[in-house]
Formats: sequence, structure tokens, C-alpha cells
Amino acid sequence: MKKKQRKIRKVVLAYSGGLDTSVMIRWLIENYGCEVIAFAADLGQGEDLKPLREKAIRTGASKIVIKDVKQEFVKEYVLPAIKANVLYEGKYPLATALARPLIAKWLMAIARQEKADAVAHGSTGKGNDQVRFEVTAFALDPDIQVLAPVREWEMKTREEEIEYAKRYNIPVSATKKKPYSIDANLYGRSIECGVLEDPWVTPPEDAFQSTTSPLKAPSKPCTIKLGFERGVPVRLNGQKASPLEIIQELTTLGDQHGVGRIDLVENRLVGIKSREVYEASAATILITAHRELESLTLDRETSHFKETIVPKYAELIYYGLWFSPLRKALAAFVEATQENVTGEVRLQLYKGTCIPVGRRSPFSLYDKSLATYETGDMFDQSAAKGFIEIFGLPLKVQARVNKKQRKEK
Ligand code: ARG
Repeated sequence: MKKKQRKIRKVVLAYSGGLDTSVMIRWLIENYGCEVIAFAADLGQGEDLKPLREKAIRTGASKIVIKDVKQEFVKEYVLPAIKANVLYEGKYPLATALARPLIAKWLMAIARQEKADAVAHGSTGKGNDQVRFEVTAFALDPDIQVLAPVREWEMKTREEEIEYAKRYNIPVSATKKKPYSIDANLYGRSIECGVLEDPWVTPPEDAFQSTTSPLKAPSKPCTIKLGFERGVPVRLNGQKASPLEIIQELTTLGDQHGVGRIDLVENRLVGIKSREVYEASAATILITAHRELESLTLDRETSHFKETIVPKYAELIYYGLWFSPLRKALAAFVEATQENVTGEVRLQLYKGTCIPVGRRSPFSLYDKSLATYETGDMFDQSAAKGFIEIFGLPLKVQARVNKKQRKEK
């Protein structure tokens, strides 16, 4: 194989232990003649990462760094997303997109520490993830070199990769082709490829990895109570818990009740539409609950304005612009709105639905004496007359002009 032009001595690779990144370690060594350091992040994807240690070294890596980044992921990435109620194109809570800047950040930190001159990732040339990894890397060090072997190498099929692995004695565990491409972390799972590529096909049950089918979910609803402090989930059913524990517990409960299955044809940053299925029970419950509490505690104008930034905020995350000035500015705005988002929400999980049924807060702006239609009404209905007069004045003026014009014709 020909050696590539650029001189690279040492590269840090985002490594999952799967076929692609296993083959990649060898391929980098062969093609760049460089040293490869593997990095694997525990993002709560539900896989044991310990075996990766030996696997990476046996595959040719000089070293592997495995890091539990769950707490950091929740605190720095997931919580800001919940506070902003972000959903890309109104549906996707962005689990995959939120994890990429964090992985890239650690790749860069290790690269600096190890004096590596490049970082590498296993994303394909058609997806969003390559963009997220690379723009994050550049945002953190404009001089870093980023390698994306899948875009460069000649191997086109899984079979060719397995062939390559055999040639170099690379241990590959499952050689059977998986029907879907899956990316998972504690905030949700993204599922694509296979039969899902036809947007008309109903996602088969085997596409879903953790959620119970809503059809088979318990016929008795499960009622939960979520407590928030300044927009952060801090209590579940009266028990104090960390946001990470709450997310894990809500995933278990939500999955049992078939909550958080999402089916979406989305616009990728690279210009194509793709059909993706998501499982995001905790995200669904948390965003539903958080929005509900905001309905009680945010004033009307802040609430309406905050809604308008959601599509933009989601877009920035989806596009990989986590470390951009606008994303940071929007986060600061959202943070400023959360001061009084403290209180509790009661929700019912039932056969795939998550329905808020109660909310309360010490900062509630709901005033029963103003809202009531029963005795004790404090609302001065006589004041409404003057309000409407002035509020509707522009329409009245317009109508007068219209009427005059019609008469003159
Ligand atoms: N479409 C989603 C996104 O761009 C998820 C892609 C993740 N990859 C996968 N193998 N499903 O954020």
C-alpha cells in the first residue's frame, strides 16, 4: 500500500472496538506509518468497555485511554439541552449529536497530552458525525490534522474489512452483518440502515433495542413525579437523586412503557434526507416535564420567545457547532430563564405516551384568584373593556379605511 503524503507521527483515534475502528488502527499504521493511541468514552452506551483495553493493544494500538465521561456528558451537554427543550426538526432529542463534541474534546485533550499531531474518527463521508468531530477539533485547535480513514480507504464492504482484519490477525468478534447501524448513549439511541432506508416501511420490532412495544406495554399507567431545581431534574418520586441517576431510572421506566420511540425523515447537514428511528425515553419524559414546569413558571413573553430559539439551538447542535459563539450565547440566555424553573411535575406513562397530569411550583405564576370562574374572582372584568378598545384599535382604524375605500369605488 502506498504511503500517504502528510507526515503524521502519532494519532489519537476515537475507538469503539467495532469492526471499522479495529481495522482502522492497523490501516493507520500501514498507511501513515504512525503510532496509534485509541480513545474510548463511556457515555452510558450500555457496553462493557474493559475488554477494549486488550483488544486495542492486540490490534496494534500503542496505548488505549478509556474514560468514563457520563457525569460530564450529563452536566455539560444533556442538561443544557433539556433546559432548552431542544428537539431537531421538532422530534429528535439529539443524543448522538450531543455526544460528538464531548468525544472530540477528549480526543483533542489526549492529543495535546501525548503530543500527537492528528486525531482520527470512524465516521463515514455521508453523515453528520464526521462534520461534528472535525469542526469541534478545529474549534479547539485550528492546526490539528484530522483523519477520516473511512473516507479514504478502498474497502467498500464489510466483507472487505473482514478480509483485511483476517490478513492482519485483527480480532473481530461478531462477523455476522448487523441489520442496523446503531449509535447509543445514556440520552438515547439512533438506529438507521437496513429496511429503515425505505421511509414507507413500518420499523420492524427488531429495530428497537430497549423500548417495549407500546402495544405490549403494561395496560396500567405508571405515574411518576419529577422534581426540578432551576431547570435541573433533582428528584424522582420524592427521592433526591443526581441527574444521571434520574436519567437512568427514567430510561428503565420509560422503556417498560414504550415511551420515546421516534420515527423521522431528517435533513442531514450534508444535504441528504435520511430516515432514522430513535429510542429516547428519558429525553422524552424530561423534556415533556420540563416544558410543563416552564408553562407554570415562565412569564408569557419569555416563554414564547424561548420557544422561537429552539429550532436554531437544535440546528446548531445538529450541525456540530457546539463550541460556536452563538450556541454559547443561546445557552447563556436559556440559563437566565431557568431561575424560577423549580417545582414538580406529575406524569403518566402509558403505552408509549407520556402525559403530564399535574404541576406545582413555589414560583408558580398561576393565580387561582385571577383564573377562577368560581367565587373569589379577583380579576376586574370591567377593565377588559378598555383594554380591548386600545388593543384592537389598529384593526378598527384599518377597517375604517377599508370601508371608506369600498364606498368610494
Ligand atoms: N441521524 C442522527 C444524527 O445525525 C444519528 C446518526 C448516528 N449514527 C447511527 N449509526 N445511527 O445525529
